Amino acid sequence: MKLAIIGSGYVGLVTATCLAKQGHDVICVDIDEKRVEMINKKESPIFEPRLKEYLEESNLKATVDLDYAMENSDVCFVCVPTPSNEDGSVNLDYVKNVSIAIGERLANKGYYTIVVKSTIVPGTSDETIIPILERESGKKAGEDFGVCMNPEFLREGHAIHDFENPNRIVIGEHDKRSGDILAELYSVYNCPIIRTSTKTAELSKYASNALLATKITFANEIGNLCKKLGIDVYDVMKIVGMDNRVSEKFLNAGIGFGGSCFPKDVAALVARSKELGHEAKVLSQVINSNKEQRMKIVELLENKIGSLEGKKIAILGLSFKPDTDDIRDAPSVDIIKKLQEKGAKISAYDPKAMDNVKKIFNEIDYAQNAQNALEEADACLILTEWNEFKDLKDNDFNSMKNRIIIEGRKVLNPENVKDFEGICW
Ligand code: UGA
Repeated sequence: MKLAIIGSGYVGLVTATCLAKQGHDVICVDIDEKRVEMINKKESPIFEPRLKEYLEESNLKATVDLDYAMENSDVCFVCVPTPSNEDGSVNLDYVKNVSIAIGERLANKGYYTIVVKSTIVPGTSDETIIPILERESGKKAGEDFGVCMNPEFLREGHAIHDFENPNRIVIGEHDKRSGDILAELYSVYNCPIIRTSTKTAELSKYASNALLATKITFANEIGNLCKKLGIDVYDVMKIVGMDNRVSEKFLNAGIGFGGSCFPKDVAALVARSKELGHEAKVLSQVINSNKEQRMKIVELLENKIGSLEGKKIAILGLSFKPDTDDIRDAPSVDIIKKLQEKGAKISAYDPKAMDNVKKIFNEIDYAQNAQNALEEADACLILTEWNEFKDLKDNDFNSMKNRIIIEGRKVLNPENVKDFEGICW
């Protein structure tokens, strides 16, 4: 098929490269000329395992020219960001602008299919996108063009794996013809394909992320109780997760969830519920509890060493999770701010995310490795479970002034390191 992918963030680029690998003709469209240039040079603008190889192997092209992309495609995927407004509600500006641009160009085309992959609150396809497309094109959805909502379930750091090994594919179709086209495109993947309404598809994405965020928050709550009881939440959750009605996934307690998806999506679902006259109490509390959870590691640290004024704190791990350089809504950023407010000096190390953190904090010391960050430190906080931290040994911590080691994620191997404790263990 001839496909245009609008927006070259991690969802757009992964979708583009994986579909190009299947033999489709793919054109990426982005407003960022630098990004377009990089993609055409087969350089990946983001860090995502295997993405660079996939780009190198593919014949996909990138352009800033939407006219060209639409002239040379029968289907386009909208993969633009849907960030948060101040009040947590979803900001649909990019989606609306792209819908206008596509609508204007639909006027001169035969039947064309628009697939929305951006995460949009329930009702957006029917109430916002389709009316814009119809208004701008003077054409009728379902007759002259088709619209599908096709949520993505890709984890950063595993996005290519997840694209190629989906648990399920959801096609929210406004009209059967466009749903058939998308079902045909995805027929190579070995998983259930659910064809449903656009609203069901839209909500299924939010409900999935919100449930996973709730599982984590629940594990953190039990973890905070474990800390009081002097037991390890991982021992408890291992038992809980063995019940196959629960599953052991997303029960890893710690400093809570971050990233560009869970915090934003839970907040957007709460705001959308409010708009519809429903108060999403559980999800509101998930947001509050998750914010508080980050600060528990600072409280624990103060309980151990008293005032943080002038103390050197080594931070190991800055990205919101391992295998990414992404620091969007990373717990590390809030924790560093709080430590600085309390007068602490920070030395930080992360295998991938330091360049991004430098854009926020240029006054902290960035170390070349974990051992350098630990030198003369009064305490160490581990905030991301990078694999390389699993190999740290007792003597790597010997250069610390005080041996206070607190994990915010379960990562150190107790066989290699003694005298450390976790936030919930
Ligand atoms: C998440 C979802 O897992 C994807 O299915 C979804 O497509 C994506 O959001 C999205 O909406 O685009 P992602 O944000 O990449 O993916 O990361 P996750 O691996 O889900 O982790 C999110 C956060 O939860 C991280 O901060 C992680 O450390 C934390 N987490 C995860 C825990 O604290 N405990 C766990 O047990 C699991």
